[in-house]
Amino acid sequence: MGSTIAIKVEHLNKSFGKGESFVDVIQDASFSIRKGELIALVAPSGAGKTTLLMMLGCVDDPDNGSIWLGAEKVYANKWLTKETRKIRREKIGFIFQAHYLIPFLNIIDNLTLLPQASKTDEKVSKAKARELLKYFDIAEKENAMPSQLSGGQNQRVAIARALVNNPEIILADEPTAALDANRSVDVVNMLKKITREQGVTIIMVTHDERMLPYCDRVMKIEDKKVVLDEPLHTT
Ligand SMILES: Nc1ncnc2c1ncn2[C@@H]1O[C@H](COP(=O)(O)OP(=O)(O)OP(=O)(O)O)[C@@H](O)[C@H]1O
Ligand SMILES: [Mg+2]
Repeated sequence: MGSTIAIKVEHLNKSFGKGESFVDVIQDASFSIRKGELIALVAPSGAGKTTLLMMLGCVDDPDNGSIWLGAEKVYANKWLTKETRKIRREKIGFIFQAHYLIPFLNIIDNLTLLPQASKTDEKVSKAKARELLKYFDIAEKENAMPSQLSGGQNQRVAIARALVNNPEIILADEPTAALDANRSVDVVNMLKKITREQGVTIIMVTHDERMLPYCDRVMKIEDKKVVLDEPLHTT
């Protein structure tokens, strides 16, 4: 495994609210994740998993600290660019617990909506979308509506959508929550395949201990502190 850094965080802090409603969520987090790692993020409800992902994805503002995405320092007590949307669009793919496909668009249009919004050539994005549907074994569903697909198939479309823009990083917030154990293993294996074959770095929130052996390392949030374990195994 190469040692190129995909995500680095130093002394990151995050709280919400003021006075009575003040909640301290993340205290002095420092860690780094290598390119191509699959990280499981495990912590109790309300511990700050989604908050951490949203900061790494340039969606939520930290209070202070530093964040690097690849070689680029993007945050140092403030966002270092006005174009956080551009960073997000170019580097990051999101997968959510509920798949959030648009119900009134067919599968191929769900996949190509985002690239169109970012002015990627339609032919290029359609070709990429078709390649991904084939990769995920649902090529024949491109004209189907989300309601005509199973939960697992829709979740695969959601993963494909996160990959259409060739992101370096995928942030997945409980991508297997709606799936049974077998389907969950399928999805995690698919995510792993993406890290191995495409060098994409993935942080996946999960509450399911059975998924941990498929991941490279486990990240926990314990009493507001982020703890990143050493590799479980070497592959
Ligand atoms: N926009 C917000 N305003 C105020 N408090 C917030 C906001 N977002 C999150 N919080 C608080 O921050 C803490 C962490 O929330 P977060 O959603 O990150 O937890 P989580 O680990 O993802 O939980 P779950 O497993 O239930 O999804 C919680 O106490 C929550 O109430
Ligand atoms: Mg959450």
